[in-house]
Amino acid sequence: MDEMKRIEGAAKKVREALGTAEIGIILGSGLGDYADALEKADRLPYGEIPGFPVSTVAGHAGKLLCGMLHGKRVMMMQGRFHYYEGYSMKDVTLPVRVMQSVGVKTLIVTNACGGINLSFAPGDLMVISDVFSLTGQNPLIGQNLDAFGPRFPDMSCAFDRELRGLAHAVAKKQGFELREGVYAQMTGPCYETPAEIRMLRTLGADAVGMSTVPEVIVARHGGMRVLGISCITNMAAGILDQPLSHAEVTETANRAKGRFQALIDGVVKGI
Ligand code: HPA
Repeated sequence: MDEMKRIEGAAKKVREALGTAEIGIILGSGLGDYADALEKADRLPYGEIPGFPVSTVAGHAGKLLCGMLHGKRVMMMQGRFHYYEGYSMKDVTLPVRVMQSVGVKTLIVTNACGGINLSFAPGDLMVISDVFSLTGQNPLIGQNLDAFGPRFPDMSCAFDRELRGLAHAVAKKQGFELREGVYAQMTGPCYETPAEIRMLRTLGADAVGMSTVPEVIVARHGGMRVLGISCITNMAAGILDQPLSHAEVTETANRAKGRFQALIDGVVKGI
């Protein structure tokens, strides 16, 4: 289907069911409950949105919610689409286009990731300063959607400096040290090999995950202000003498979720 028609069809349904919003939040692994913070929330399962893919990962509930938070209209994605699930980059980023279409100007992207920087520890939270991707993919490949942004968008400051400063100020007030670093995206679904982690460290990555970069590219193409916050759920492969598991990732994400939610909440309040 024509990409613009697909976006417009999904956005029409979302506008009718949920209205408009100014802030969008993509809730990563373990953060899904934060949707409960929305007041007077309306919910729309992805399955009811025309053109939307359906999330397949356990722990990703798969709905869009919209309500009030600290006096602002906020739309949240409970569950995101991953490239490793077999979705195209257009599928993965469709929700960001839909949010742009219903008025969202600021996007907060969250995720769980592995720590590459040896000074990090599981449970740490990290503001994303920059990203790179080794997926070999880009969601903007294909005809440019001029209605959203230019053919060659600037990515020299993908993460808004003011929002990053706000996140640090909130963390300081809440009494914990917020890390900052570069997030590298791999396709997954297998975790990386120790050799890949050494390569990523050499390339300048502080953390590694399987999401986020396409959503940020599309958000920036459409001119959104973007903040990225990662939860370091484990040390990346080969750093500790132990295997990686999804159970460890979800367990740490659950342990860190109180602090993670408080940080996001403080940021939304301060916007
Ligand atoms: N690698 C990739 N993705 C991840 C990791 C990891 O170590 N932890 C959580 N998501």
